[in-house]
Amino acid sequence: MSQKKRILTGDTPTGKLHLGHYVGSIETRLALQDDYDCYFLIANKHAFTTRADKPDQIRQSVIEIATDWLAVGIDPTKSTMFIQSEVPAIDELTFFLAMLIPFNRVMRNPTLNAEIRDKGLGDNYPFGFPMYAVGQCADILAFRPELVPVGEDQIPHLELTREVARRFDQMYCNVDPHTKDEDFVKSGGLFPIIQPKLGRVKRLVGTGAPSAETGQLLKMSKSLNNAIFLADDADTVQKKVMSMYTDPKRLKATDPGTVENNPLWIFHEIFNPDQNWVQENEDLYRQGKVGDVAMKRKLVEVLNTLIEPIRTRRKQFEARPDDVIDVLREGTKRANAVAEETLYLAKKAMKQDYFPRKLTIG
Ligand code: TRP
Repeated sequence: MSQKKRILTGDTPTGKLHLGHYVGSIETRLALQDDYDCYFLIANKHAFTTRADKPDQIRQSVIEIATDWLAVGIDPTKSTMFIQSEVPAIDELTFFLAMLIPFNRVMRNPTLNAEIRDKGLGDNYPFGFPMYAVGQCADILAFRPELVPVGEDQIPHLELTREVARRFDQMYCNVDPHTKDEDFVKSGGLFPIIQPKLGRVKRLVGTGAPSAETGQLLKMSKSLNNAIFLADDADTVQKKVMSMYTDPKRLKATDPGTVENNPLWIFHEIFNPDQNWVQENEDLYRQGKVGDVAMKRKLVEVLNTLIEPIRTRRKQFEARPDDVIDVLREGTKRANAVAEETLYLAKKAMKQDYFPRKLTIG
């Protein structure tokens, strides 16, 4: 097994990846895959929390995510991509870890509450819905990683993971409660107290108008229909950009424009490699000397330059679905080797290591 420090992160398969995923987390993964032993999990069980009635769709989305990962440049010879539900040690850890978290603590998790609100679940969610937050602690701890690259919305899950790890190490590995987070493993703990790693952009806005309720620009999201996907063709990118929301008070190119909270400029600031150009044209825009259309055309060019190589690689992998499955099979084997070791050590610490076992998958 590799001597490099480990990274674990994952995506729930809800469909194709978009630019928000790219700047929120994919970029970090690409930057780190040479220096770390990376594990990327496809959280297919999480998809069942809200779509248990759509197994075909979930299966399709699992393949889409893996194809997207390969297309953006995650290299299966360096990084391990795997399917959550094919790593049984994660489920087994979930049960034990669930004993270390008060139920009320799980239900106070702000990410769960935001999901309940935003998806309109009311009190109509399954038992498995809050359970997924405990499952996510196990997803992470099964790999005892150093870093967990995520978007801002995942921070509450990582805080729960840190709490569970501290409790486990104190309860079963005799780690003193006053130990500093970074010293838990040194002091005999099985689980590290993991660190989140946020991306360059914490929350990318979508291409649409602000929320009618809050007046705030909405986050890019497939379900809000305001996303530019990494798989979009050049014409689709053009259509989405040319019709994107900008300054609503600006009716013609000679009106002074507002740059702040304007998705057109938010996108230029994030994606345009020529930031001098952006600065200059923001000034001209403020003075009413450049039009929306020209600025949008430039943005189309910028985004298509970023997406084009991804799109080309994606087509190649789309044509070879069996290769994508093989990458997942190999990755899942490697993931199981690590997770089985963790489970064995956890059971030993809990005095529940009765029999040896050998897992065969793939
Ligand atoms: N909940 C994450 C999301 O929806 C996906 C996920 C599952 C994850 N398990 C994880 C992320 C472990 C980081 C670490 O985006």
